[in-house]
Amino acid sequence: MHFLKQIITQTSIMAEKVTDSLNHKKLEGKVAIITGGASGIGEATARLFAEHGARAIVIADIQDVLGQNVAESIGSGQCTYMHCDVTNEDQVKALVEFTVKNFGQLDVMFSNAGIANETISQTILDFDLNASDRVFAINTRGVVACVKHAARAMVRGCLKGGTIICTGSVLASFALPNSIDYAMSKKAVIGLVESASTGLGKYEIRVNCGCGPLKVENIANAVLFLASHDSLLITGQNLVVDSGLNAHCLTKAD
Ligand SMILES: NC(=O)c1ccc[n+]([C@@H]2O[C@H](COP(=O)([O-])OP(=O)(O)OC[C@H]3O[C@@H](n4cnc5c(N)ncnc54)[C@H](O)[C@@H]3O)[C@@H](O)[C@H]2O)c1
Repeated sequence: MHFLKQIITQTSIMAEKVTDSLNHKKLEGKVAIITGGASGIGEATARLFAEHGARAIVIADIQDVLGQNVAESIGSGQCTYMHCDVTNEDQVKALVEFTVKNFGQLDVMFSNAGIANETISQTILDFDLNASDRVFAINTRGVVACVKHAARAMVRGCLKGGTIICTGSVLASFALPNSIDYAMSKKAVIGLVESASTGLGKYEIRVNCGCGPLKVENIANAVLFLASHDSLLITGQNLVVDSGLNAHCLTKAD
């Protein structure tokens, strides 16, 4: 009986701790940039970061009206919109400089802007190299520019504990015949995250990737985890949020 009481007490203490950690604001005082923040995963993440006490969130996108509306609805005291085409390195550099100049530091870079080639089927037999250039320019080149300039600002600011998160895709892990350029562009992001994380570890900067085909809120939660202290010892990883879909497909393929 005594043993049972002890277990019940311990379980309720653990439950309280879990509730505490869920209620806890995970990004209190932090400054974050979110590329592709005008819609979808980026927008949901901006809202979640705001709920979790981020001091400043800079949404960077090319859809100006949408981006401004998102920033206004979060609140101009906490969220700012800036036009930034991630394929242009000068614009990415300016975005990071604007953030540091106005908010004093950069704690979190969420490099999320990305596109798929929706109008054409990119099979190997009909692969359109010209059409694939824009996919690589945004999904790969744009992400390198964001990681590079965010990391430079974090190193320059001697900021310990900076976090960089990139949006990958489940298509980096399992193959489809008709999205070759998209899959390649996202696989490259995993290579970037793994390699950059080893070089930035000595500055206590973490670099991870998050992806999944589920609701945007599920991905936003994973990004919050990777951005916060909760994932302190996690770097160079690709966090797949897919309810086991990937594992299921791999098992089927065997
Ligand atoms: N939704 C999914 O199922 C899914 C699955 C896996 C990965 N992803 C990835 O998630 C990320 C976000 O996609 P989403 O589903 O939220 O789509 P989305 O289209 O709603 O969001 C993408 C955002 O990126 C912006 N963008 C596009 N090109 C840009 C550029 N050159 N510079 C700056 N911003 C640019 C768009 O304007 C848009 O606001 C992408 O990297 C995408 O590849 C999405």
